Amino acid sequence: MITAIYPGSFDPITFGHLDIIKRSVRVVDELIVGVVFSHNAKNALFSVDERVRMIEEVTKDLEHVKVVPFRGLLIDFAKDMKADVIIRGLRAITDFEYELQMSQTNHRLHAEIETMFLTTSVEYSYLSSSVVKEVAKFGGDVSQFVPEISAMELRKKMKQKGECK
Ligand code: PNS
Repeated sequence: MITAIYPGSFDPITFGHLDIIKRSVRVVDELIVGVVFSHNAKNALFSVDERVRMIEEVTKDLEHVKVVPFRGLLIDFAKDMKADVIIRGLRAITDFEYELQMSQTNHRLHAEIETMFLTTSVEYSYLSSSVVKEVAKFGGDVSQFVPEISAMELRKKMKQKGECK
């Protein structure tokens, strides 16, 4: 029985994230999508509850997937969840340095849990939540980048913030 954590900010979930989730469930027995409360380098647009709800909605038809928010260190969360492996998506070479540092640090902290990488499907290799938020901020159509629920919530959020029409 292999339990995996797919951690991230998911602010909001994109088709790139969903692609990694769907491909991961094919190779593990249970997938826990770990949604970080806050992120040092970024201020989340959506609250953790909003991000969890969006992920639950788009994964509702997938078996063996659960969505769990976490605070603190990813490796501690992975231990608490009795995970065997952490899954991360790799888009381009620019992701590599950060991912290598993170996986090696996590390995030093707890060597029993491995990090495994799935390379992003080519059609999503340019995609990031930050770029999607930028497009949404200026009223652009994000429907080709994110599931409908994310697009809807982005429109609502941008309206609330007075960012777009
Ligand atoms: O979607 P993101 O923003 O790339 O996800 C980054 C995330 C949440 C996986 C990373 O920031 C994380 O693990 N945060 C929890 C704190 C932690 O364990 N940091 C790594 C120590 S090397």
